[in-house]
Amino acid sequence: MTTVRHTPGSQEHDAGALGALGLTVPVVLAPMAGGVGTPELVAAVSGAGGLGSLGAAYLSPAQITGAMKAIRRLTIRPFAVNLFAPQPVPEVEAAQIEAACAELQPFHAALQLPPPAVPAHLQEDFEAQLEAVLAEPPAVFSFAFGRLEAQHIRALHAAGVLVVGTATSVQEARMLEADGVDAVVAQGGAAGGHRGGWEHDDLADTLELTRGVAGAVSLPVLAAGGLMTREHVRDALAAGASLAQCGTAFLLADEAGTSPPYRAALQQGGDTVLTRAFSGRTARGLRNAFSDRVAHPLPYPYQNALTRPLRSAGAQAGQADVLSLWAGEGFALARQGPATQVLEALTPDPSGTPGSPAGR
Ligand SMILES: Cc1cc2nc3c(=O)[nH]c(=O)nc-3n(C[C@H](O)[C@H](O)[C@H](O)COP(=O)(O)O)c2cc1C
Repeated sequence: MTTVRHTPGSQEHDAGALGALGLTVPVVLAPMAGGVGTPELVAAVSGAGGLGSLGAAYLSPAQITGAMKAIRRLTIRPFAVNLFAPQPVPEVEAAQIEAACAELQPFHAALQLPPPAVPAHLQEDFEAQLEAVLAEPPAVFSFAFGRLEAQHIRALHAAGVLVVGTATSVQEARMLEADGVDAVVAQGGAAGGHRGGWEHDDLADTLELTRGVAGAVSLPVLAAGGLMTREHVRDALAAGASLAQCGTAFLLADEAGTSPPYRAALQQGGDTVLTRAFSGRTARGLRNAFSDRVAHPLPYPYQNALTRPLRSAGAQAGQADVLSLWAGEGFALARQGPATQVLEALTPDPSGTPGSPAGR
């Protein structure tokens, strides 16, 4: 078995197949679709010895190709690309669409947008996205929202790509292991952004879930959710994780695509909530007027497509009240500055033994 040696003389974390990546820092930049996870951010984290992940779920195949090229112009280090596992698109009734549009109308009117309507193009085609990824395969492919078909896992493995699934419970982790993934993200309830599981979401404490998943599967585990400091990362490794996957910690990094009103809202403080208001799928973000008032969202991907024009216009107009301000419970600890500094602040003290007070 290979290991990740994140600092000479430090504890070793058995990273299984991920050991081949040669990471020197046991931190994965979480994939963050929707503009936050820029190629510059991904490359900065990979270039500094962590694993950067490109959140590509909302990108067209051509945009994926462009973003991967941009990363490769900036670093020769390995990186990950992340997509959402394909979902069956549910049926929606005209009355549901009417109710969802009626809820959005006042927000549209306030920004002088045309009345809300569900567009014909709901989401990107997964097969075409995956084809773009496989055209110049990254070292790692991660996915959320479900399971991949065996043929997709086979195609990724044939291209030499390590496959990482996302679980929100021990049951889901076991299913992903049975599917043949190479590693599993254990996403605790504190995590920012969408819940990455599909049927058994325990909204568990990240360390407890990490312990449970590490005990239940014989795959490397990436702990995710609320890991904002080097002590948090150290504790996650001590709980059995091979790597820590951090998203919210990077939201204020210079290279992040976080819009100015989003940055301001994070710095202003407040509470996070789990809401379906923006996309139709449960996600954690800062509470705002939109998450408070929208009570009848359409299922994913309809609501996501329906709210896109409003979110774009809100970002342009500096209106945080209509933006999906994805953030984990630890957002108050997010640091500003270059991503390399943020990564450094997440790197466990080399003298620290997992679980010991050293390095605190
Ligand atoms: C802004 C944002 C966008 C996210 N987008 C994705 C995504 O596209 N794919 C994915 O698998 N996870 C996504 N996540 C979830 C992360 O993978 C990860 O579980 C989470 O960031 C970990 O918790 P933390 O935010 O407290 O660090 C996103 C999280 C945030 C904060």
